[in-house]
Amino acid sequence: MWKFSAMLAAVLAVVPATASADPAMEELLKPCSGCHGNDGVGSSGKTPYINWQLPQYLYDSMIVFQQGGRITAVPKHIPKDWSKEQVMKVAEHYGNNRAPRSRQPAEATKVARGEQVHLDRCSSCHEDNGRATDTKGGDTPILAGQSAEFLTAQSKMYLAGKRKFKSPKFQESYDGLSEADAEATSHFYASQDVVAPPATKKRKSR
Ligand code: HEC
Ligand code: HEC
Repeated sequence: MWKFSAMLAAVLAVVPATASADPAMEELLKPCSGCHGNDGVGSSGKTPYINWQLPQYLYDSMIVFQQGGRITAVPKHIPKDWSKEQVMKVAEHYGNNRAPRSRQPAEATKVARGEQVHLDRCSSCHEDNGRATDTKGGDTPILAGQSAEFLTAQSKMYLAGKRKFKSPKFQESYDGLSEADAEATSHFYASQDVVAPPATKKRKSR
């Protein structure tokens, strides 16, 4: 594990982990950094990681928040006076940040069940154990390494029809899904590294 972490750190070192020293960007991020940091690494289970995320997905989410189209616990989540260009700048800043995500808490039995449900219902879009983004141009977000608490809260909203997919077709994957199984998938995704672990072949030779 240490070897892998060191390797990952070496790979990540190529990209600056902390926010740019760009004062204009830091100023722009002021309404966000209290919760998401300057690098998109969330501070609690309710707050999602927004680094590593597809910028187009972050952009879409922010515009929907700004227009009041998605339930959020945060009043005035995205400032009303931000232009589309500013929203895109911030989406790119966070989404392209490669600060490491620390391992999320996940329960083993739920992870095992969650993997089953994932393979049955979710893997066609959330490919590579939730690491893939933008599958087939559908603006699919990355789920791997995300907080289970956050994912479960979002799944419950999809189940209750309180959060709508952009395309109603996507909603079908939730049809008849129990809350317990939805929660299990969250634990499965939370247990995944954002970057695929090195091939087992390499490990065996050690
Ligand atoms: C008070 C804490 C707080 C502040 C400030 C805040 N957020 Fe959030 N953010 C959250 C929480 C909690 C969620 C989870 C869902 C919800 O309740 O909205 C979230 C969700 C999001 C999401 C959706 C991620 C996803 O995967 O669906 C985006 C995008 C986002 N925030 C961007 C921002 C940006 C950009 C700012 C600054 C303009 C900001 N947030 C300010 C706490 C905060
Ligand atoms: C047909 C493609 C498709 C399938 C199948 C699918 N999803 Fe998704 N999922 C998406 C897309 C696209 C989004 C982006 C949100 C949107 O469209 O509103 C998304 C968003 C999500 C989110 C919100 C993530 C965030 O950061 O806010 C969660 C959680 C999620 N999916 C879980 C699941 C689970 C669990 C399953 C299986 C039961 C599943 N999805 C099956 C396409 C799919």
